[in-house]
Amino acid sequence: MGVVKAAENPPQTAAPTAQPVPMLDLKRQYRPLHEELLAAVGHVLETQQFILGEPVAAFERAAAAQLGVAHAIGCSSGTDALWLALAAAGIGPGMAVVTTPFSFFASTSAILRATATPLFADIEPTTFNLDPAAVKSVLDGERGAEVKAILPVHLYGQCSDWVAFDYLAKERGLKLIEDAAQAWGANLNGVHAGALGDAAAFSFYPTKNLSAAGDAGMITTNSDEVAERARMLRQHGMRQRYFHDEVGWNTRLDGFQGAILSVKLKYIDGWNQARRAVARRYHALFHAAGLVEAGPYPAHGVILPHEVNGTRHVWHQYIIRTARRDGLRAFLTERKIGSEIYYPVPLHMQQALRSLGYREGSFPEAERAAREVLALPIFPELREDEQQTVVAAIAEFLS
Ligand SMILES: Cc1ncc(COP(=O)(O)O)c(C=O)c1O
Repeated sequence: MGVVKAAENPPQTAAPTAQPVPMLDLKRQYRPLHEELLAAVGHVLETQQFILGEPVAAFERAAAAQLGVAHAIGCSSGTDALWLALAAAGIGPGMAVVTTPFSFFASTSAILRATATPLFADIEPTTFNLDPAAVKSVLDGERGAEVKAILPVHLYGQCSDWVAFDYLAKERGLKLIEDAAQAWGANLNGVHAGALGDAAAFSFYPTKNLSAAGDAGMITTNSDEVAERARMLRQHGMRQRYFHDEVGWNTRLDGFQGAILSVKLKYIDGWNQARRAVARRYHALFHAAGLVEAGPYPAHGVILPHEVNGTRHVWHQYIIRTARRDGLRAFLTERKIGSEIYYPVPLHMQQALRSLGYREGSFPEAERAAREVLALPIFPELREDEQQTVVAAIAEFLS
């Protein structure tokens, strides 16, 4: 694993100032695009292509080309994209899907929505991604024969260990479904997230790296068959208007979101590069402040996130790990510095998923991560002085 390298001239930490630092400020992205976005939205109003139509088809073509994948199919959210990806890949009743207990709820609820059973496996403590060794134990366990797919999540914008998952899937004849909701532009050995599995799901929720002005999502696949089924299922199971071959759902993407996403798609690579620069600056600032500890678990300082060799991290989130997380978060909030916890309760301990039969202690790495992770402000336009404020406040708290 390669640690992200510090900048050649590491910036110095500054004394705390009164300036607030937002967790995310989308206005900074919007202002320079104001005219271009209004023109794109205006064109949809002029042409009245409100549902699917050319604005969505154009976005789908451009998205597929950017990711190097054969098909991209727009839909109404990342949650629906996960369900579509599973259903289109043939996952259904009587089948189990192995996934991570440390993700957003939709990674698991989509499996239930596809009428399959989620089985959890624990995460790696350094990347917080699904651990292939833990997945193997589930496959070798008493319910292993039910498993028909693995659903890893590229958490925080970094690809999970696809080489290992690919090996397991080929060995056992399983489908691989990517939850790439947080990972537009990430890659593994040059292959983009979204082009790794049998099917993948993206979210364009407004906080995502590539974001719509509302709910929106997309599935991607290299399989003609999966793509054809996904297009059918997103429109009530119709191949021909008013002839329903299967019970699908209405999960179409609207023209406004398609048009807005087409504009933003042109800028996403630059934004992701800017996020990578922000991550490098955080690394340099934390090292300069003498706060960095070796992982995987924290004692008195901070464990920094890292980029795994062979991956391109797109830093949807910059996650530090620290033992006094809740106290630190309260301190930052008092200073009007944004932070967030993704995720405070692992999925196997969620009330809504109690029927799956897991309990506290089932997944120690996920449970420990839920107590120690803290997301710091990160977005392409975040300024160096704002980062200095964040790191100085953390140094003050930990001193
Ligand atoms: C990992 C993950 N999966 C799925 C989703 C669901 O996406 P959406 O909110 O667009 O339905 C999200 C985003 O919220 C997510 O972060």
